[in-house]
Amino acid sequence: MGIPIYTYDAIVVGAGLAGCAAARELQVAGKKVAVITKLHPLRSHSGAAQGGINAALSDKDSVELHEFDTVKGSDYLADQDAVEFMCKNAPETIRWAERMGAAFSRSADGKIAQRPFGGQSSPRACYAKDRTGLTLLQTIYEQAFRSGVKFWDEWYVSDIIYKDGKVSGVVAFNIRDMQVAIFNAKSVMFATGGYARSYKINSNAHANTGDGLSIVARHGLPLEDMEFVQFHPSGLSGNGVLISEAARGEGGRLFNSLGERFMEKYAPNAMELASRDVVSRAILNEIREGRGVGPRKDAVYIDVTHLGKDLIMERLPELRDLALTFLGLDMIKEPILISATAHYSMGGIPVNIAGNVRKNNTEFVEGFYAAGECSCVSVHGANRLGANSVLEALLFGRYVGKTMVAEIDSIPLRPATVEDAATALKEIAFVLNNNGSETIPALREELQQCMTANAGAFRTGETLSIASAKIKELRDRFQHIRIKDKSKVFNTEMQEAIEFGHMLDYSAFIVESAIERKESRGAHYREDYLARDDENFLKHTMAYMDNEGNISLDYMDVVLGKHELKARNY
Ligand code: FUM
Repeated sequence: MGIPIYTYDAIVVGAGLAGCAAARELQVAGKKVAVITKLHPLRSHSGAAQGGINAALSDKDSVELHEFDTVKGSDYLADQDAVEFMCKNAPETIRWAERMGAAFSRSADGKIAQRPFGGQSSPRACYAKDRTGLTLLQTIYEQAFRSGVKFWDEWYVSDIIYKDGKVSGVVAFNIRDMQVAIFNAKSVMFATGGYARSYKINSNAHANTGDGLSIVARHGLPLEDMEFVQFHPSGLSGNGVLISEAARGEGGRLFNSLGERFMEKYAPNAMELASRDVVSRAILNEIREGRGVGPRKDAVYIDVTHLGKDLIMERLPELRDLALTFLGLDMIKEPILISATAHYSMGGIPVNIAGNVRKNNTEFVEGFYAAGECSCVSVHGANRLGANSVLEALLFGRYVGKTMVAEIDSIPLRPATVEDAATALKEIAFVLNNNGSETIPALREELQQCMTANAGAFRTGETLSIASAKIKELRDRFQHIRIKDKSKVFNTEMQEAIEFGHMLDYSAFIVESAIERKESRGAHYREDYLARDDENFLKHTMAYMDNEGNISLDYMDVVLGKHELKARNY
């Protein structure tokens, strides 16, 4: 079989919350839409979101407070017009999700239950036990499927068709048999997820290899604010699997080896519910200064025993299961071991509120959209608040779907040809046939160790330079790889090699953007530049990669608004 060309009105890449919500909008508006996903949709990483989705619903809360908390949490780097849009539309998004069928947990008076989360002035995270993302994903996927969206499961998108400043489709291969195909469309949306997988200890699914970002960057398009990688305070010790902020939201306390509730030193007001960057650094600092616990002394305790069995079983059953399975510890009876884990990508493909992908600071790419964690709109700035990501994915995914509906009739279908698959075919041939001696697992291990040690929650110019040099070395060695599996059936070794190429590219963006940001802001903490520097760095990084893989940096203004710049204390 040659290379088939399938034609749709719109293609959505990724089947998490953003992708499914957008696709459903397009389908119910009568557009012919396909979702292409390298996983079964219900294995998308949105399903791993545990603790909640924010909306100012209660009469003790307000949209303005939600905005303020988000802007403060972002260390003032978020674009305030986008934050206002998100917070204003959050309550309607929850009501819509409920109408779609999402079963939220309830309080005693029958209202949607809400729990406290870090950096928030009011209990604001609506939840479904500790399975909020999974509940929402099942609901929205079901609705998208029911509306008639065509899902191409286990197809891997490896390129976009990008010519003359316009996107007119994607190139993908079927993971089952490596059949390459072109998907030609008037418009394409990326909802391909985040990039924390380049760190050794992370909470991300194996699939979160930042494919979408590197595919875009290889066409000379910018990536925004890539230096801002969130470290979640509570990953299970040893493997980084998420122990939701819900554990602290429900009252969990952190202790070091001396039995001290150490957050008293770092955030005396908010304590365990300071923003994530603050709590993560506090935990890592306790460990660095020798007050860690566990066999390797590289963890701290989180204790929820005082909450009692009934509350834990009602609100945190998954967390208990995870700790039992991976650590053999029962959080009903004893504290469990956690430490910071790479969790979320604040940076990504730059978009405006409507989801149009930026070509540069002032122009947009025709027919190209993005939403969810792969995008940077930017509502999270330098640090995201817990439970704002599920909100962002669902709310902007749905809204970008509506934008695509509104714009699609003004976009002509530019016919694709089989030549558009040339780059993808070359990449596959290289990975299959290259006959060097380097292996992907070994290279990936080196990348992850290096990023954790040198471009993690603490960084300096010196450590970042080490990371930069290592990435260059790994890129050279990548040219000498060899894979053993030469078959065409579920060749995951080949897929992992392509994914690793993506990890190398976007990691270079993280590091080069971080080197030039000579300040500390949110999750980007430079031990050689400890202060936030609004005079020089209240701006978004816009990074571009040339054909040789060199990264150059530009900057874009932050959209300010009614929430004035202040020192950030918790
Ligand atoms: O802690 C959590 O449940 C994670 C939520 C989030 O990242 O928003």
